[in-house]
Amino acid sequence: MADVSIQPKHFLSDKVEHFTESVIREMTRQAMLYGAMNLAQGFPDFPAPAEIKRAAQEAIAADVNQYAITWGAKNLRNAIARQMKGWQGIQVDPETQITVCCGSTEAMISTLLAVCNKGDEVIVFEPFYENYGPDSVLSGAQPVFVKLHPPSGLDGEWGFDERELRGAFHNHTKAIILNTPNNPTGKVFTRGELELIRDLCVEFNVLAITDEIYEHIIYDGTRHISIASLDGMPERTVTINGLSKTYSVTGWRVGWAVAPSNLTNAIRKVHDFLTVGAPAPLQEAGAAALAMSPGYYESLATSYCARRDRLMPALTEAGFRCFRPRGAYYVMTDISAFGFAEDVAFAKYLVKDIGVAAVPGSSFYNDPRDGARQVRFAFCKRAETLDEAGRRLQKLKHSRPR
Ligand SMILES: Cc1ncc(COP(=O)(O)O)c(C=O)c1O
Repeated sequence: MADVSIQPKHFLSDKVEHFTESVIREMTRQAMLYGAMNLAQGFPDFPAPAEIKRAAQEAIAADVNQYAITWGAKNLRNAIARQMKGWQGIQVDPETQITVCCGSTEAMISTLLAVCNKGDEVIVFEPFYENYGPDSVLSGAQPVFVKLHPPSGLDGEWGFDERELRGAFHNHTKAIILNTPNNPTGKVFTRGELELIRDLCVEFNVLAITDEIYEHIIYDGTRHISIASLDGMPERTVTINGLSKTYSVTGWRVGWAVAPSNLTNAIRKVHDFLTVGAPAPLQEAGAAALAMSPGYYESLATSYCARRDRLMPALTEAGFRCFRPRGAYYVMTDISAFGFAEDVAFAKYLVKDIGVAAVPGSSFYNDPRDGARQVRFAFCKRAETLDEAGRRLQKLKHSRPR
């Protein structure tokens, strides 16, 4: 046999060099390794609602076990259209405007692959949910980051500078990715902010891709507004959502993209060749989930608010500066008080020596230095988990980390 010495790099796509593995998922593996309380990855450690689980079991028993229609089971698409009308007043045709995907994760990448050409720019607010960077790169687009600045007071809101945002829009801008309620900051974009973004999208002929996966997890009387509900936006918005967070079923992998029919055609093509379809029985269970009464969503928000208010005092007591989230289920914190040079070393110390996994702030920024003083905690956990994490974190008051 010929002595072929091939550099391992030879086999790799250039694209994958432009991003690293997910830090969030890596922290979950570290939590398991060290037996730490996992406040890193955003998945609940409590059961999903019994009626949804029953609906999934019944669907499997009824032999809904083959491919669903590639762009989504009719029952689920109808339920999504009903919900969008009911919650946000948005009229959607379930036959031509909805693509059900394997989680909102796939809905986002399918959308970007469907709309982006090489050289296009995609505006992303940062800190950002870490998938958006690699998603943009995989779709051939160039992400352009616009800062969400932390509030000066702990009760204030994260916000963007209007001039900075306008400066990011130009000829090559294809889309802006929004995430409201926001991971990791907990920001819920106001109507005024959304109108400003709308005006820029219309002026520069830009698409809004909005990830609203936390739409029902909101606090302090805050209201979630879908940008697609604003005048001028239905024809230029892709709204992404899913079952994961609202129904505590992150492992089911059911999400969707709602878009004008011409865009939906393109998204459906990409989705079909990427994954063919989302799990058929879980789509039927999804239709049952979306039919839950309004009381379900009220108690979801109330129970998450109680979890937020359980964890935040423990974090503050341990020495973290907490930015109060108005939505989603994360607390972004400032770690300056602990004297660590950067967040990754601190997060490693937390998981290994203190026994609590969190996500280093740098994984939410393009330039890691911007997140070097931040760490994010997830509170989608049982009271016992939060209390035990809180107890462990109090060790920080006595330890003298290097
Ligand atoms: C903002 C945001 N979008 C999407 C996802 C993933 O959603 P899915 O499970 O529907 O793929 C997450 C998960 O943490 C998230 O925080």
